[in-house]
Amino acid sequence: MSQPKYVGKMEWPVAVQIGKGLEGAITSETEIGYVDGEKGWLVYRGYNIFELAENSTFEETTYLLLYGKLPTQKELDEFKQKLVSYREIPGEVIDTLRKVPKTTHPMAALETGIGMLGCLDPDADKCTMESETEISFKLIAQMATVAGAIGRLRQGKEPVDPDPTLEHTANYLYMTTGKKPDELMEKVMDVAMILHADHGMNNSTFTTMCIHSTLSDMYSAIVGGIGSLKGPLHGGANEQALAVLLKLKDEEDATRYVKDCIANKKKIMGFGHRVYKAYDPRAKVLGKFSQDVTEKKGMGHLYRIAKRIEDEVIAAYGEKGIFPNVDFYSGTVYYAFGIEPAMFTPIFAVSRISGWCARVLEYFRDNRIFRPRAMYVGPRDLTYVPMDKR
Ligand code: ACO
Repeated sequence: MSQPKYVGKMEWPVAVQIGKGLEGAITSETEIGYVDGEKGWLVYRGYNIFELAENSTFEETTYLLLYGKLPTQKELDEFKQKLVSYREIPGEVIDTLRKVPKTTHPMAALETGIGMLGCLDPDADKCTMESETEISFKLIAQMATVAGAIGRLRQGKEPVDPDPTLEHTANYLYMTTGKKPDELMEKVMDVAMILHADHGMNNSTFTTMCIHSTLSDMYSAIVGGIGSLKGPLHGGANEQALAVLLKLKDEEDATRYVKDCIANKKKIMGFGHRVYKAYDPRAKVLGKFSQDVTEKKGMGHLYRIAKRIEDEVIAAYGEKGIFPNVDFYSGTVYYAFGIEPAMFTPIFAVSRISGWCARVLEYFRDNRIFRPRAMYVGPRDLTYVPMDKR
């Protein structure tokens, strides 16, 4: 059988400037949030993150991200009621999570749990604006329930049912620890959830949008986002940063650690950022919490070791624009509250689900499939060599 043949001369690509890691690439227009990396600003829908951290709540911030405005009391009450109504997850999801080996990283378990939620949702493949919006509400509520159940099961404990009388963050902590959080824990963790809710066109957000742009479905998009967030160069850095802190005895040890990393060109987890070349504003808020909370919980040494690392890294790399990022201090706060390090990145996902859904929905309104290209630099004009001639 004769095969089609190329006629004429193949046109090879000319060299173009590549933004490695898509540096400089603009995916779309957005009204959701903005990061000014030079000034160290983070803005959600026009509001500076410090304003929101001081005055808002996770539910209100989520409403803001989704709807583009602060809610009235009635709107907020209705929104919160909707989230509460979706908190419970099907028994099949818990049964599936029971089968996940205890050695599995909780982020992989979270992918499994959210994937199973999608399998059980008859509306998963409708892919209309209405269905995707409703699924977003479900996912914002249920990410917390799935993460809570994973945290319990990996410790050999039974999952705790959601408590409809608790606010979103308090309920998540209750489902994780089995105890209602005190006022300090609820407040600090709620602010941490606000700080993590959205952050420009970060890797996991882009992943969710990229998957959804094929008109796949919201669950698949969010499973992809969880997979991206899991990586140590992204959300997984919080767990890694704490692991380092726990190995260091004191501030002298911290200095030795940083000098060793510099000498051996090793990256220091919780520092540096693709966009921020100034101090990450989220790390400013979390650094202050770290100081207060670790002191109150008798773990002040953790903060002092972390602060020494920060001082040493800024002295060495500050001019290069390397400062602590959101993942550096968050782990000290969570650890001081008694949360297991493996559950730090799932906490991030419980919060970031708001930004993921808001941005997927925004892009979906005027969807076009994402499809970048790569610069081909491989061999050219080869002629096929039969097996016996190679
Ligand atoms: N420690 C030491 N040096 C660093 C660090 C760090 N944490 N981060 C960047 N650098 C240096 C690199 O070695 C490189 O130096 P060079 O120019 O001399 O080769 C330069 O800064 C640029 O680093 P890249 O990795 O190319 O920067 P990029 O923008 O691609 O990556 C990233 C950003 C992944 C966050 C990087 O800073 C990093 O790996 N940090 C550690 C992991 C981390 O904390 N991740 C969490 C980020 S926040 C989040 O995702 C929620």
